[in-house]
Order: sequence, then C-alpha cells, then structure tokens
Amino acid sequence: MDLKETLEALKKRGWLKIIDEPLDVRLEIPHIAYLEVKKPDSKVLLFTRPIEREKGIEYSMPVVMNMFASKEVTTFLFGKEPDAIAAEIEELLHLKPPHDLKGKISLAARLFGLKNVPPKRLGGEGVCQQVKWMGKEADLDRLPILTTWPMDGGPFITMGQVYTRSLDGEMHNLGMYRLQQYDKRRLGMHWQIHKDSSHFFDQYRAAGKKMPVTVAIGGDPLYIWCGQAPMPYGMFELLLYGFVRKSNARLVKSLTNDLYIPEDVDIVIEGEVDPEELEIEGPFGDHTGYYTLTEPYPVMHVKAITTKKEPLYQATVVGKPPLEDKYMGWGTERIFLPLLQTTAPDLVDYHMPENGVFHNLILAKIAPRYKGHAKQIMHAFWGVGQMSFVKHALFVGQEAPDLTDYEALTAHILDRIGPESLLITEGIVDALDHSAPEALVGGKLGVDATGPIRKRDCEVLEDEKLLEEVRKLDDSVVALRQYLTATANPIAVIQYQKRERAKKLHQKLAPLANHLRVVVFVDTRQNSVDNPYMLIWRVVNNIDAKRDIYIDKIIGIDGTDKNEIDGFEREWPADTNCDPEVIEDLKKRGLVDVDEAFLERFQIV
Ligand SMILES: Cc1cc2nc3c(=O)[nH]c(=O)nc-3n(C[C@H](O)[C@H](O)[C@H](O)COP(=O)(O)O)c2cc1C
Repeated sequence: MDLKETLEALKKRGWLKIIDEPLDVRLEIPHIAYLEVKKPDSKVLLFTRPIEREKGIEYSMPVVMNMFASKEVTTFLFGKEPDAIAAEIEELLHLKPPHDLKGKISLAARLFGLKNVPPKRLGGEGVCQQVKWMGKEADLDRLPILTTWPMDGGPFITMGQVYTRSLDGEMHNLGMYRLQQYDKRRLGMHWQIHKDSSHFFDQYRAAGKKMPVTVAIGGDPLYIWCGQAPMPYGMFELLLYGFVRKSNARLVKSLTNDLYIPEDVDIVIEGEVDPEELEIEGPFGDHTGYYTLTEPYPVMHVKAITTKKEPLYQATVVGKPPLEDKYMGWGTERIFLPLLQTTAPDLVDYHMPENGVFHNLILAKIAPRYKGHAKQIMHAFWGVGQMSFVKHALFVGQEAPDLTDYEALTAHILDRIGPESLLITEGIVDALDHSAPEALVGGKLGVDATGPIRKRDCEVLEDEKLLEEVRKLDDSVVALRQYLTATANPIAVIQYQKRERAKKLHQKLAPLANHLRVVVFVDTRQNSVDNPYMLIWRVVNNIDAKRDIYIDKIIGIDGTDKNEIDGFEREWPADTNCDPEVIEDLKKRGLVDVDEAFLERFQIV
C-alpha cells in the first residue's frame, strides 16, 4: 500500500484525524503533532491546508504526521506483530539441514519465500516521477517543509529516505537522516559520523568525486521505518523491507543519477553532494529532547524534484518523549532481538524505555552462566554497531519481572546491587550526546543486578524529616523525594540550587550514610522531584558516567546540567520547549485540547 492507500485504510479503522484548518508549517503543525502523539489514543494526522504565513505560501500538498501513532497502528503498518517478524528471523538464523523429505520440502518453501527479499529494478519511470521539476524549476519551497522548534536553524525534512551508494557502486544504503533546507536548492545532510552514508561520503571525498544522493518522501510507510533500522554496514535496508512485506521493493531509477528509489514514493529530490563543501547545520530540536548543537555537515545541491500527481508530504517531530519514534523504536527493538542474540546468545530479552531516548538506557535480561557474564555482555553491546551508543545498561537475571514492568523491575534491581555491581568504562557515544566532556567519546555505566537479593542496611526516614536533615548540611537543597523505600537501596532525589558541583553536596551528605543509599541530584531548571518519568529522561541524558557517578557508601548520581562549575567546556543545549504563544493560540482556535497538568507532565513549554 502506498501512503494514500494506507491513510484510507487507517481512516476506515478510526485511526486518522483530518485537520482542514489552514495551519502554518512553522511551529503550528509540528506543535499539534507533538501534543497528539503524547496522548494515550494518539492518531495519525493529515493536515490538508499547510501554509507558510511569512513567505505567503499555500502548499498544494497535504502534510501527514504521526504515521507511527501507536502500537496498534505500527503493527498494522508492519502487517503483523513485530514479535512475529522476530520469530521468522530467528527461524531463519537457526535453519538446520533437513533429514527427510518433509524437512526438505519445508526448507525449500522457506528459502523460496526469500525470493521476495531483494529489491526489484523496474525499467521506465515510476508514479513518483509523474510531475517533474528539473534544474531551476526544482524549488524546495514547493514542499511544506516544517520548522518544528522555535530555535531551529530553519526548516528541516524530518522523514526523508536518503538513498546513497558506495563509490564502487557495490553497496546501497537507505538511511533516515534529517535534512536542513538552506534555500531553494540546497539541503544540509545530517548523516552522523558513525552512519553508513557518512562512510560512503568519506570514499567520495578521498576520490575527489561528487556524491549522488536521492531523497524520497512517502510511499509505503515501511520504507522510512527501514531507513532508521540499525542494519549492518553494507546491507541495503530494502532487503529488510522485502523480508517484512513478503514482496520485493519495486525500484525505478532517479532521473539525474543512477540511484534507485521505490516507484511508489510521493516525492523524490535528486542531487549531488560536493565533498569539499560543508555548511553549519542546526540548531535542531532533537529526539533527545534537547537542541543539537550546530556543526558543519555536507550540502546537497538539488537538481530535480519529481512527485506523484497528488503527493503527500510525510514528516515527524522529535523532542521530549513520548513521540512517534517510541513506536518506531518499539518495532525495531522487537525485530532485532534475534540478531542481537547472535552476538550475545544468553540474552533473553532487552528493552529500551522511551524516556531513555533509546541510546541512554537499556534494560537487559540474561541467563547468567558464570561470574562476570553480565559484564561480558555489556562489553559486547558496547562493541556492536549502534548498540555501542548505549550509555547506561542495567542487567537482570531470568527471574526478574518483565522489562516493561518498570516499578517492579526497578525494585528488583535495587534489591540486588551494591557499589561493586557498577561498572564504569568509556566508549563511543551517539553524536547527539551533549553530556560527555568531549563529543563522540564518553562514560558508560553498566549495572549488574543478576546476583542474589540483599538485605537493607539503612534506616529510612520520612521525606520531610530527611529533607530537614539534608538542609542542615546544605541549605541549597530545595526539594527531596524518596522512591522505592522498601528496597535495599532506596533512591532519594535531591533538588538543589546549583552553586557548586553535585560532588561537593554528595560529600556533605556523608553523616547521613545510615539513611541514604542512592542519591540523584537534579537542579532547579524545569525539574520536579514528583515527576519520575521526566526525571529519568533528564538524568540519563545529562550523565557522563565517568564524571557523574560517585561510588561510595552512598551512590551519587549527578543529573544536573553541566557548566563551568563542573569544568565543562562544551556548550550546554537548551530543552525543546514549545512556543507558549503558539500553544495558547491553538487552544483558542480549538485545535488542541490539553490542560496545564498535561503540559507539566511532559514539560512541554
Ligand atoms: C526520527 C528519527 C530521526 C533521525 N535522524 C537522524 C539524523 O538526522 N542523522 C543520523 O545520522 N541519524 C538519524 N536517525 C537515526 C538513523 O536513522 C539510524 O541510525 C539508521 O540506522 C542509520 O542508518 P545507516 O546505518 O544506514 O546510516 C534518526 C532516527 C529517527 C527515528
């Protein structure tokens, strides 16, 4: 199904909300989508009349957002439960030579099914090339490209399928990277240094050749999911498409270069990247919930834009969780479990909670066979593909509660750890990480909670009494709340006015060693000690384990923003907050219906 057919199917099921009001691509459309996907019954959105007030543009194509609006919708888009796809992959990975005729027939049938995996190249043009704007006619202002956040450096294509190939033409890649619109015919290519297209780019740069790029938007929504899937380097993501869909991706050649793209996409932008030209990209409100800092990235010069006769423009908004990438990530997490198990066979399950924004927190359940087994698998994670971006990995044994039962699981972990259960090391971090002292390399924390249950050896005080005692030691503390006080390691969240390093405050707490086990320090900027969902989001974002975890009788975790007090020399980014005036105006126009409690719960403004 292409995008239009998918929307019709979603509409029939009551999963599509159509908004006919003229709405600005600058902030208005993104803010509505941002709020919608945080609701428990979030819908796919179709904005039929996008406009750009400042430039006076009324776009001819509607905008589709929140395509991965919920688990239900995501399962529908896959055509089956992600776990069922994982089971098929597992079966393939464990194919055994057949012993009898029945086994041979069954193996042949399975292998025959794989004929749908490789993409098929078609001759001639596709429906995505019905309308052609070539050369100077190819104007990016024809597309309703969104500016999602108030401090963004400009409009960004946020659901672009970026098609590239290696210099020798042997490897093909589809990656989902955001693209900044600089002007009518230039885009910033935000493929980060660890990603496949960046490796291809290096090859073109070394050879002094221009790199062809084609960006597609829309078509079957599974294409864009494949674009973000962490496939190994050199493996074309459209193989995964064929495997999941059970039908080959059907490709046509771009008009101005040799890159092939799915024939049913809505919009195609063709061009090339001059490896000698870099331009500042960003800032951009990112999926960490913070703005990513500006950095130089390659630039694509657009040579042609083609579309279907009635194209749709697909986009997403990233920011503080939960967002659409929660559901995309859920599919990825489930489907990639069997592949991860090939490197870590004793991994039973894993889960990346959305408020850990994926690479900041992973929960893993293993079947430990020997001492140090959890630590062995931690190192495997930190050494494999995009898993190596993970900053904090918490490991439990098979008897632990389900990894998505957060409260029970946290209690299980706290009952099984002591200072010696923590492993602190260093490795590569996601290019988006803002807390490491330098870009790309930072601290990692592994927690081994696979051991036996422990007894509590501290005396828990009431929150009020504990706050009083803490304030006697340091009056910069403004709030305190304890969590999971029935466990061996209760957590105390301490909010303080940051005039000195959390480490100093941690040292001052030594006289309370009989009442404290794990202390998390947060500052007064947009934190509430009563909002554990957003606290986890903030703290795992802000920690660099080597600098910010203090292992002592009291384990200290510094979740504050870092600055010169910490000897932090990089720029600290701002939160992605919605423009309060835009939200107020949308409320008045009856386009959003959220109350103050909702805005606070997800720290929206
Ligand atoms: C909503 C969303 C936006 C993303 N934006 C970027 C981006 O701008 N740059 C980037 O390098 N990766 C981005 N990613 C992650 C990549 O899509 C992902 O790492 C993918 O596996 C990269 O493919 P590759 O290994 O073929 O390069 C994004 C993912 C999602 C879900």
